[in-house]
Amino acid sequence: MAIISDNEGLGIKKGSMQKKNPIVKPENIEYDNTFENSIRPKNFDSYIGQSALKETLKITLEAAKLREKPLDHMLFYGPPGLGKTTIAGVIAAQMGVEMRITSAPALERPRDIIGILMSLKGGEILFIDEIHRLNKVAEEILYPAMEDFTLDMTTGKSQTAKTLRVPLPKFTLIGATTKAGELSGPLRDRFGMIHRLEFYTCDELAQVVLRTAGILDIKISEEGAYAIARRSRGTPRIANRLIKRVADFALVKYDGVIDETVANESLDILKIDEFGLDTTDRALLSLIIDKYDGGPVGIETIAAALSEDVRTIEDVCEPYLLQAGLLQRTPRGRKVSPEGYRHLGMKMPSEQGRLF
Ligand code: ADE
Repeated sequence: MAIISDNEGLGIKKGSMQKKNPIVKPENIEYDNTFENSIRPKNFDSYIGQSALKETLKITLEAAKLREKPLDHMLFYGPPGLGKTTIAGVIAAQMGVEMRITSAPALERPRDIIGILMSLKGGEILFIDEIHRLNKVAEEILYPAMEDFTLDMTTGKSQTAKTLRVPLPKFTLIGATTKAGELSGPLRDRFGMIHRLEFYTCDELAQVVLRTAGILDIKISEEGAYAIARRSRGTPRIANRLIKRVADFALVKYDGVIDETVANESLDILKIDEFGLDTTDRALLSLIIDKYDGGPVGIETIAAALSEDVRTIEDVCEPYLLQAGLLQRTPRGRKVSPEGYRHLGMKMPSEQGRLF
C-alpha cells in the first residue's frame, strides 16, 4: 500500500471542473517515504496498543469485505502522536486500497477538496488530518460527498445559477483531530465510527521501542527499551524519536548498545526527566508556580510568557501534563496540581511552613 501525501494542493486550473480532462495528473501526487512511514506498522498484529479500537476495526473491516461495500467514514481523535495516521494506514493496507493523505489547512480553496474528491477511486481512503480546521465551504462540499457520494456544484450566478450533481466513487473518509469538540455537529454526525485514541502504557511503549529498534537495526536490551518507554509520555511518536537520539549517544559515547544506564544517561543529557517532561513542560509548570502562585492563569498569558503559541501549548504540552495529573484545567485557567509541585521538588503554598 502506498501512502500518498498531498499537502501541496493539486494545482487545478480555474474552470477545470467543467472540462472532461482528468483533474489530477499522476505527477502531482507525492509519495510519502519519511522515517515515520518506514517504521509504521502495516497490519493489526504489528500495530501495538489501542486494543479496543483494533478489535472493533477487525470486525468492521471483515463486515465491509463480506458486504463488498466501502467502510463507513471514521473519525479518530486524541492527542498528537498516538497513531491516528498509522491506524488509518493499517486500515487501508488491510482493505488493499490506497490512502490519500491531506490536512484541513491544505484545503483552503474549494478546488483543493473538489480536486481530491474527483481523483479518488472506488473504495479508496481519504485521510484528512486536523479535520477540525476545515473551513465552512470545504465542509459543505464534504456533506453530500460523505452522505451520497456526490459533488453538488453550482454554475452561473444568482437567477441563472444551476446545481450540478456529479457522482463520486464510493470512498471512505477518515478524519483525525486533536480537538473533537471543535468539529461542527453536522460534520461529526456524518461519521459512522468515532473513536478516541488512548495514551499507551509503559509495556506497550517498550514493545514499540523494541519493534522500531529491530527495524532500524539498533541494539537495545529490554531494560533499555523500558527506560525509553518510561520517558515517552505515553506516546509512540515520542518513543520513536527518543530511540533515535539515544542510539546516537550509544554509538558515539558508549559501545553502540542501549541498556538501561545508556538510555537513562542519554535522556538526562537531553533533559527529558523521569516523567518524560522536557524543558518546555517544566518551564510551563515553573512559570505558573513562580509567577502566578500556582494558578489559575489563562492559556494566553502562559503562551506569551513562554514565547510559544497557544496551539502548541494546548496540543503538545498540555494533554500529557493533564493526563499525568501535574496540571489542572479550571474555568479560570490552568493550575499546577500538588503532584506538579512535588514533581518539581517544590511545596504547595498551603504546605509551606507546616511542621508536619
Ligand atoms: N509506531 C508508532 N506507533 C506504533 C504502534 N502503535 N505500533 C507499532 N509501532 C508503532
